[in-house]
Amino acid sequence: MAARIIDGKVIASELRARVADEVARVQRVHGVTPGLAVVLVGSDPASQVYVRSKHKQTQAAGMASFEHVLPADVEQIELLALIGKLNRDPGVHGILVQLPLPKSLDTEAVINAIDPAKDVDGLHPNNAGRLAGGFAALSPCTPLGCIILTKSVHASLEGLNAIVIGRSNLVGRPLVQLLLNENATVTIAHSRSRDLAQLCARADLVYGAVGRPEMVRADWIKPGATVIDVGINRLPGPDGKDRLVGDVAFAEVSEVAGAITPVPGGVGQMTVACLLVNTLRAACAIHGLAKPAV
Ligand code: GUN
Repeated sequence: MAARIIDGKVIASELRARVADEVARVQRVHGVTPGLAVVLVGSDPASQVYVRSKHKQTQAAGMASFEHVLPADVEQIELLALIGKLNRDPGVHGILVQLPLPKSLDTEAVINAIDPAKDVDGLHPNNAGRLAGGFAALSPCTPLGCIILTKSVHASLEGLNAIVIGRSNLVGRPLVQLLLNENATVTIAHSRSRDLAQLCARADLVYGAVGRPEMVRADWIKPGATVIDVGINRLPGPDGKDRLVGDVAFAEVSEVAGAITPVPGGVGQMTVACLLVNTLRAACAIHGLAKPAV
């Protein structure tokens, strides 16, 4: 039987609507308008698309959106000065530096310069460490989105066998921690793991986050498993235009899985919605307000 398609578009749009309601309430009751600053260095077309979408969705949720575009040859010290300014700006509650940065810049130093209270990407070592320790933290947006999509299928993840294929700081590692917090049993696999098929065989939840087009195959998947595809790979299409494919061979895996996310229209939709959630949460925490209802 064909798998249920998990519609990231619908789930993300519902989440954005809930964020917008909470933003309106926080504004009305406390006079606080959450603000998100996005910093883009250079003119990578894919990054420009992401940044534009963040800007539009932030404004649509009733938040303040600040965009800072710096040239690709900007000096490290200038970028750090901008981050310092945003750290001190009371109208800014979330700071996101679009990655990847040009090679001339020191990404680690840039992330470390962000005030952890405004680190809506959850990449600062304070937040990554807090998440790994099981403490409250701002967590990376894509893994948060993966958990929400999984919970649209499974009310509880307790005791389920999950496998995360990929160990990046942005997705794989934080996703493992979030799954542990949900009491799932987690296997961490990656591009060098041996016999991925066998590792996947027991998994109720499979997360493809390795960045290899269509690597996860149907014969790896336990019948009925939930498959969340984090991959966004661009391959040349038959018409000369790029075609987006995930890390999962969607057509064949959807014949075996119980539920599956498409690419596009799955996890990708959730990332910006979760960024709005994190910005709202950061604004409430900075102003000493109760945790918002989203
Ligand atoms: N580039 C691709 N995804 C992301 C993300 O989630 N955060 C940042 N900062 N850059 C990205």
